[in-house]
Amino acid sequence: MDTEALTHPTDPEIATHALAEAAAAAGYAPSIHNTQPWRWRLTADTLELRLVRGRILPVTDPEGRLATLSCGVALHHARVALAAQGWHATVTRMPADGEPDLLASLHVERRAPTDSASTLHLRSIPFRHTDRRPVPGTPVEPNDLAAITTAVQEQDTQLHTLRPDQLLELAAATDHAQHSEAADPAWRAELAYWTGPARPSGAGVPETAIPQRATQTTVPGRDFGHHGELSVSAAHDKAATFVVLYGSTDEPVSWLRAGEALSAGWLTATEHGVSVVPHSAPIEVIAARQAIRAMIASVGHPFLVLRLGTTDPADPAVPHTSRLPADQLIDRA
Ligand SMILES: Cc1cc2nc3c(=O)[nH]c(=O)nc-3n(C[C@H](O)[C@H](O)[C@H](O)COP(=O)(O)O)c2cc1C
Repeated sequence: MDTEALTHPTDPEIATHALAEAAAAAGYAPSIHNTQPWRWRLTADTLELRLVRGRILPVTDPEGRLATLSCGVALHHARVALAAQGWHATVTRMPADGEPDLLASLHVERRAPTDSASTLHLRSIPFRHTDRRPVPGTPVEPNDLAAITTAVQEQDTQLHTLRPDQLLELAAATDHAQHSEAADPAWRAELAYWTGPARPSGAGVPETAIPQRATQTTVPGRDFGHHGELSVSAAHDKAATFVVLYGSTDEPVSWLRAGEALSAGWLTATEHGVSVVPHSAPIEVIAARQAIRAMIASVGHPFLVLRLGTTDPADPAVPHTSRLPADQLIDRA
C-alpha cells in the first residue's frame, strides 16, 4: 500500500487547482502551425482532452495525424505539471469508443512525492521553443542524444538517428514534399492563413519566428512562402543531426503517444542545450512519408522528422510565439 495515500488524503479543492494549473501549463505546448488543436474540460478531479476538429489543417493534415500529435504534447505537459505539483494521476487514452475526439482523460488519484525530473521539466516548459536559425556549431553530443532518445522511448515511441549519408535522401524527400504541397493553391492558402496577418490572435506562426532570408541547409526547413523577421546568419546548418520519431502502428493512439514522446524529448533537449525544429512536410506527403519509412528500414511508422542542434548561448533569444487565451482552450464544468 502507498503510505503517501494514507498520510496525505486528497483535498478536492487542491486537486482541482492542480488540474487547472496542468491545463494552463499545457497551453505552452508546440503544435503544427501553432494551431493549438485541443480543448480541456475540467471537472473536480478529472481533465478531459479533446481534439478540436475546427483547428485541424484540412489540406495539410486531413487525417489529423499532426493535430493529434500536437494534442499529445499538450497531454504530456499536463502530466508533467501534475507530477511536479505532487499528484499521482491516471491517464486513460481514447477512453470512449463512440467519441473519437475524446483523446484522453487525466484523473487525479492521490498525493505522491514529487520527482526532480518532473520539476525540471515543468521549469523548462515556458523556455522550450522552435529555433529555426542555422546550427553551424558543435554537433549534438552523444550523451545528449542518448538522453533525448531515452526520454522518447519512455513514452512508447522510438527515435531513429539518421546517418550523415542518409541526409541527401532526406533532403530529396523533403524537397519533393514541399514542391508538391506548394503546387496546390488550397495548401498555399491554408499556409498563408496560419502564417500571415489574417491568422487568429494568439495562434499561427508570427513573423518573428520565420527567418528573414533563406537559410543555408542540406535539408530544407519549412518554406513559409515568405520571409519573416527572424535574424539568421549566413552560416551553413552543417552541424545538424536529424532524427525520426516513429511508432509501431499508424493510428491515433500512436500519434497521441508520439506527441507525449515529442514533449518528453524536447523538454530533455531544452535542458541539455539542444535546439529542436520539427520537420513535418516529409510526413504530410505520402510519397515522402514512404521514403522516410524506407530510411528507417520499415521498422515502424514515421510521425515526425526533427532537426537537432546546439545553440550558441551568446545568440540573442528568439521571441516566444503567443498562445490562445485560456478560455479558448479550457472549459470548466
Ligand atoms: C506536429 C508539429 C509539426 C511541426 N512542423 C513544423 C515544420 O514542419 N516546420 C517548422 O518550422 N516548425 C514546425 N513545427 C513547430 C511549430 O510551428 C511551433 O511549435 C509553433 O509555431 C509554436 O512555436 P514554439 O514551438 O516556438 O512554441 C511543428 C510543431 C509540431 C508540434
